[in-house]
Amino acid sequence: HRHLLGIDQLSPVEISGLLDLADGFVDINRQVEKKLSTLRGRTQINLFFEASTRTQSSFELAGKRLGADVMNMSVGSSSVKKGETLLDTAVTLHAMHPDLIVVRHHAAGAVELLARKVGCSVVNAGDGAHEHPTQALLDALTIRRHKGALQGLIVAICGDVLHSRVARSNILLLNAMGARVRVVAPSTLLPAAIDRIGVEVHRDIRSGIRDADVVMMLRLQRERMSGAFVPSVREYFHYFGLDAAKLTLARPDALVMHPGPMNRGVEIDSDVADGPQSVIREQVEMGVAVRMAVLEALASNLPNA
Ligand code: CP
Repeated sequence: HRHLLGIDQLSPVEISGLLDLADGFVDINRQVEKKLSTLRGRTQINLFFEASTRTQSSFELAGKRLGADVMNMSVGSSSVKKGETLLDTAVTLHAMHPDLIVVRHHAAGAVELLARKVGCSVVNAGDGAHEHPTQALLDALTIRRHKGALQGLIVAICGDVLHSRVARSNILLLNAMGARVRVVAPSTLLPAAIDRIGVEVHRDIRSGIRDADVVMMLRLQRERMSGAFVPSVREYFHYFGLDAAKLTLARPDALVMHPGPMNRGVEIDSDVADGPQSVIREQVEMGVAVRMAVLEALASNLPNA
């Protein structure tokens, strides 16, 4: 592939291959000397139209550890503020001959549109409620390292599924790899066609996480809601927040996951987020390794490679 726009473009063999490659980078990242040279001489631009802590910093570290020159475009201080369109920004950056552009944008489909306009490889770092493929890959790597395989595991994805590109990419990946996916949310936070995409739907968190191997909590994306559709935080936590009592319903060895940023006391209690079953910090570590794997896999298809 030339680009990574979504999990929907990857076969199970390609997903396994990326996870195997990332596994090797986990060991390299734990060494004192982390620098490799796959992307030496290459230029990577990180173009983030939406806020990010984990994704942007890990793509920057991943590119640098592979030897690329990495530039972070600060959109807040760019000419986007002066009304430049996405495509004009893309064409402008393209004129500087980057080899890779990593893009996050608030509109679903914006990253694919940009990929059609530039001559280099494009990686989707999250587009609206559409896809966040490297998040699903890092979640899969985290699960695989603990459970050995994804096949047959019960994974409960809980919370604001409606607004979540993380949920969408995870559902695609986990289904492709033979896991059993449940989504757990109030009806108001579920997409209309949710029962047509191969998941079990639960509107009660107790049934949703019962006997689950993995409990993946999602952030309540209040900034994407308005008016009567914004749930009260207290009520949401009571019914859909994960706390120690609810977690006892899952398997005793269930992993607790969250892509971040977390709203403590809204979708997850601190006791659980920081508890022995939590792998939330490990997810961040896997994020660097997975992004190195994606960049390396794309490197062989870069122009003049
Ligand atoms: N999980 C995730 O995408 O986090 P950031 O928004 O901090 O990048």
